[in-house]
Amino acid sequence: MTSVNAAVETSTTLEQALQALEHLMFQAVDSQVTVLRDASRHILEAGGKRIRPRMLILSYLACGGTQIESVLPIAAAVELVHTASVVHDDINDHGVVRRGRPSINARWGRTFALLTGDFLFTKVYELMAPHKDLNVVLAEATVALVEGETLQAAAVKENTLSRQVYYDIIARKTAALFKSAAQMGALLAGAAAEQVEAMGQYGFNIGLSFQIVDDILDLVGDEAKLGKTAGIDLGQGKGFAAAYASAGGAVALAEAAPAKNPMDIFKQKLMEGDTLQTAREQAQQLMWLATSSLDVLHPSDAREELREMARLVVERDF
Ligand code: IPE
Ligand code: IPE
Ligand code: MG
Repeated sequence: MTSVNAAVETSTTLEQALQALEHLMFQAVDSQVTVLRDASRHILEAGGKRIRPRMLILSYLACGGTQIESVLPIAAAVELVHTASVVHDDINDHGVVRRGRPSINARWGRTFALLTGDFLFTKVYELMAPHKDLNVVLAEATVALVEGETLQAAAVKENTLSRQVYYDIIARKTAALFKSAAQMGALLAGAAAEQVEAMGQYGFNIGLSFQIVDDILDLVGDEAKLGKTAGIDLGQGKGFAAAYASAGGAVALAEAAPAKNPMDIFKQKLMEGDTLQTAREQAQQLMWLATSSLDVLHPSDAREELREMARLVVERDF
């Protein structure tokens, strides 16, 4: 088989697997309680990039796995953890648009959004029940995610966001789940410890890079393309820009031009300064670090797709 055909085959298999994953997630969120079922379907039907399950499956294939169907329940569990986290996140961040639709809190209110997030997290137990060791890996990542969201809320409340705190937050709230996805793919393929470690590093650094790019897009991205409420991080004192920018200049500007909204001035200052460029460079360096971890794997189409995924994380505009 030529390498072109092999590559086509890998991507066809992957796309088929991702379709089967959709089916599995829809099955998982069925309930006689209509609001839980409808709200879960609402957020799942809206799509999303499905980058975490895609990473898990590609990691599995790149580490030599061949029974792609066998990993789908675990891939679904990872995506449901992520989905639950954004449902709860929109309550906390007052996000009213998610994946191009009204967020669950906007459409059903905070109480049902909270309960739908709980429902999705709980469905993860069922999917992971047969997988004792992997369950521990995913549980650790989910704990980290909740810790990261909590540290962020605390840093905003206490006005203690610094660069160091920012990296601790994003390592937990975003990178930990990416790390677990890549690592579980390797573990499911029965990979050697060195490969499992390398895949963990890949996922972790992609996760950091992904969140930095997400923070850049919150400032400069197109809300319609992003499909979610943008421009809320800075106003809430969160994200890369809030951690890196010095507020002193913005305050001085605000005093000089009191008629203008201080947030607009702060944003204007950011655009003129080098904060966004610093963020882009950080994201790029983390992406290179991530791809270098792939060198311990045998060459394969799946490994190339993981490289491509890394590139897209940095170059994406949604
Ligand atoms: C959004 O994640 C939350 C972050 C970690 C930044 P995604 O950008 O993967 O969201 P969807 O699944 O594509 O909607
Ligand atoms: C999303 O975080 C939730 C987690 C990472 C757990 P953000 O608030 O940074 O992401 P968006 O912009 O709402 O998707
Ligand atoms: Mg948010």
